Amino acid sequence: MNIFELIRHRRSIRKYEERQVPREDLERIIEAGLYAPNAGGGQRSMIVALRDPKLTEAVGRMNVGKLDRSRLSGSFVSNEQPSIIDDPTLKSGFYGAPTVCVVFAQGNFLYSIPDAFCCAENMVLAATELGISSCIIARGEETFDSDYGHQLMHDWGVPLGYVARCFVLLGYCKGDYPAVKPRRQGRYNIVEAD
Ligand SMILES: Cc1cc2nc3c(=O)[nH]c(=O)nc-3n(C[C@H](O)[C@H](O)[C@H](O)COP(=O)(O)O)c2cc1C
Repeated sequence: MNIFELIRHRRSIRKYEERQVPREDLERIIEAGLYAPNAGGGQRSMIVALRDPKLTEAVGRMNVGKLDRSRLSGSFVSNEQPSIIDDPTLKSGFYGAPTVCVVFAQGNFLYSIPDAFCCAENMVLAATELGISSCIIARGEETFDSDYGHQLMHDWGVPLGYVARCFVLLGYCKGDYPAVKPRRQGRYNIVEAD
């Protein structure tokens, strides 16, 4: 696949096999994240990859714990790959993915959030290239907003003042890989010189 085919092929996957992602592939995906564009060239984001199923399940539940369902009315994400919004019986926001990368960024920096999501986007594209499925997950800050969450960050060597901005799930798609999704019309304009 060339880069344009790869971009079209990538989908957010929420059903994973138990099979773990090889460590060398994970390291290449992390490296792709570290090479993402970053505001001011400051390289302020940091990635922590979790591969212990008990830990990913616990943090995945913390990720759902802070979700305010009353604010979701009318939202619908996917039939083929239901999200926690679509299926309230799902208890972990990480859908059983065998590897979960947490993207942290410097909390008091103006571009902390875009920095982290640029990193995540590089990672999901690199994963697709390696035949690995992925999904970007939000609610980073809320997930770690507890004494236990702060303790985990400390144990993982996350610098003080850093905040979790998002997660990148990695694994192998269980069942059929979803088809390319058609794009909504009218979403761009090109303005040429007169
Ligand atoms: C900023 C951002 C936050 C997202 N957060 C979540 C999330 O919390 N849970 C989830 O299941 N998917 C999440 N996604 C994945 C989107 O739901 C997904 O990209 C969208 O439905 C389009 O589907 P596709 O990625 O398969 O093209 C997020 C994506 C982005 C870009």
